[in-house]
Amino acid sequence: MVEPHVVNLLHKGRIGLAPMEGVIDAHTRALLTAWPGFDWTVTEFVRVVDARLPPRVFLKHCPELARHAQGQPVTTPSGVAVHLQLLGSDPEALAANARQAIRLGATSLDLNFGCPAKLVNRHDGGASLLRDPQRLQRAVDAVHRAAEGRVPVTAKIRLGFADRRRALDCASAAEQGGAAQLVVHARTRDEGYRPPAHWEWIGRIRRHLAIPVVANGDIWSLEDYWQARTLSGCHDVMLGRGALADPWLAPRIRHWQATGERMAATQWASRAAILRDYAALQRSTLPERVVVSLLKQWLNQMRGRDVEAAKRFATLKRVTDLDTLLAGLIAPGFVHADTQKAPLAVSEGA
Ligand SMILES: Cc1cc2nc3c(=O)[nH]c(=O)nc-3n(C[C@H](O)[C@H](O)[C@H](O)COP(=O)(O)O)c2cc1C
Repeated sequence: MVEPHVVNLLHKGRIGLAPMEGVIDAHTRALLTAWPGFDWTVTEFVRVVDARLPPRVFLKHCPELARHAQGQPVTTPSGVAVHLQLLGSDPEALAANARQAIRLGATSLDLNFGCPAKLVNRHDGGASLLRDPQRLQRAVDAVHRAAEGRVPVTAKIRLGFADRRRALDCASAAEQGGAAQLVVHARTRDEGYRPPAHWEWIGRIRRHLAIPVVANGDIWSLEDYWQARTLSGCHDVMLGRGALADPWLAPRIRHWQATGERMAATQWASRAAILRDYAALQRSTLPERVVVSLLKQWLNQMRGRDVEAAKRFATLKRVTDLDTLLAGLIAPGFVHADTQKAPLAVSEGA
């Protein structure tokens, strides 16, 4: 039975940008934190198996570490903190790589116990540790000891592997191991990304722990934000796919908290501009065919929540040339005559 909980939604709380392997890299972090909204971001996971990884691996996942060498904090260009995520199960290897990351300038380390990928789980990483809370605790403890109080260590879990029976034990294990914060993606590993996210279970965990608990999973709109906070009782949330579908979701939440009013719906031109900027950033380092697929990947994330994005995706999905794709995204006259005068779809509440 979930006890009622009164939540002040105007209490700002913090908003984190979720780590997403193959999707949210340094360029995406830079774009999504360009407007005020997010308080911290997390890198894609650095996979730790048995050896200490060379600096280039850390710099690839977290190019923002290069700022440390120049005496600057490890942040996005707009100054939002970037936390470095490790994924692994071997305590010694995790500790060695934690020390390496700190030597390179990492200012916060996060541990991934949520990854559902079969390959990762088969090699005993990500969500597979949710089957054995003691091992999870040993992994957190090893990194916490290696950090020697120089940087905070945080953890990210799901509600369990096949079921939720060990959810509270896993959460406690992370806390006992020394985690300073716990992000909870409110689904089991076997639930994958299937809705619903069980936000009320995050509330159970929050009541069980003394450290801050962050609610994550299926926050796509302002309404979802209200509901996730109300059901979990958490101040803090983390946004993943919702921030890609609507890059203004975090600013939208902040705007509502500051003014009590809804931010105006995002026009297609603004979405096209962020995709164009994204392509320009990626084009500087990646081959064009890779940029084409990354661009379509982001457009694909947008299309579930935006009618115009859905239309453009349907028309452009087979385009293989980057400039043609960009022209199709940006062209104002691209919209079908019958939708041109209609207000553009709002991603909220869809
Ligand atoms: C493509 C993809 C890649 C992800 N990569 C990571 C990762 O590297 N580390 C991690 O902790 N979680 C990862 N996640 C999980 C997200 O951080 C988040 O917990 C999940 O998507 C639920 O939040 P959302 O509904 O707001 O997207 C990934 C999710 C997706 C869809």
